[in-house]
Amino acid sequence: MSDIKKIEWEKLGFSYIKTDYRYVSHWKDGQWDDGELVSDNRLCISEASTALHYGQQCFEGMKAYRTKDGSIQLFRPDENAKRMQRSCKRLLMPEISEEKFIEACKKVVLANEKYVPPYGTGATLYLRPFVIGVGDNLGVRTAPEFIFAIFVSPVGPYFKGGLSPVNFITTDYDRAAPQGTGAEKVGGNYSGSLMPNKMAKDKVFADCIYLDPQTHTKIEEAGAANFFAITKDNKFVTPYSPSILPSITKYSLMHVAKEYLGLEVIEGDVYIDKLDEYAEAGACGTAAVITPIGGIEHKGKMHIFYSENEVGPVTKKLYDTLYGIQTGDVKAPEGWIYKLS
Ligand code: PLP
Ligand code: COI
Repeated sequence: MSDIKKIEWEKLGFSYIKTDYRYVSHWKDGQWDDGELVSDNRLCISEASTALHYGQQCFEGMKAYRTKDGSIQLFRPDENAKRMQRSCKRLLMPEISEEKFIEACKKVVLANEKYVPPYGTGATLYLRPFVIGVGDNLGVRTAPEFIFAIFVSPVGPYFKGGLSPVNFITTDYDRAAPQGTGAEKVGGNYSGSLMPNKMAKDKVFADCIYLDPQTHTKIEEAGAANFFAITKDNKFVTPYSPSILPSITKYSLMHVAKEYLGLEVIEGDVYIDKLDEYAEAGACGTAAVITPIGGIEHKGKMHIFYSENEVGPVTKKLYDTLYGIQTGDVKAPEGWIYKLS
């Protein structure tokens, strides 16, 4: 068990901290059991599990937020439930109902309540739901049994800078194929990203920028986050592609940009050789929150957006509004917040 007294909330990075309980549910003979909270953080599975050999697994990432009055809330967990259903469908795994998914999230967060970081520390409780194919199997086929589990861990910023800009570099590798599994949150997309990520980090970049796999001319994703940019005349632009992960943060930001900040919002192409059109850029996602992008290096040339040291004014407003909604300081659109306590 982790010693909670030793956690310095303000200094947390994005690393695993073992908490007291996790939720585990088993699927066998055509149905999910009720699931339960357990304290052991190890899973005992067959050596012949499809998750281990054929990557039959998917996962989600979400956060629980502490508000000013000390209560706890989730941000759009119904969207994570729906995306996990799409991932399960794509990999022939049994889906989890929205109701079961949200109930499991609530249970595991409340059981680990003391690990939900205090309001104002910048830290949150990260939830990692996942589904894996398990049981004895050898051929390439769907598993005979499955496990749906959720663990939680208190986290700080995913990218080192928090709201300070970080730099990215383009990669020649693709994270997904045009008709592949890029739009689903499945482990295979991430194992292929480990090497380009390391190559970027070795050159002291935060992560790599993936270009569209068909033409390598348009920005797809910013590592494990979606990409957005602000034009010089204040339009919010974000790539549209069937091979990027449909980010819940990104779609929420599009709404915030339009309805809260009055910006025109465009989901379309962002050409890598036309970065001059943009005044600001950022990476967005559950783990990344909104991370300003200082610059992008492409083919040996560095393009700086607003500044390498300072967040741009529109990115800052987007951050303040979205994080304000997530932590209860700004009124949320109907249905976005699920109160747990
Ligand atoms: N893109 C990738 C590849 C990701 O791993 C994530 C993280 O979940 C995102 C984008 C952002 O998605 P979301 O905002 O739903 O967390
Ligand atoms: C998330 O933002 O939740 C992610 O899954 C990104 C990364 C940690 C894999």
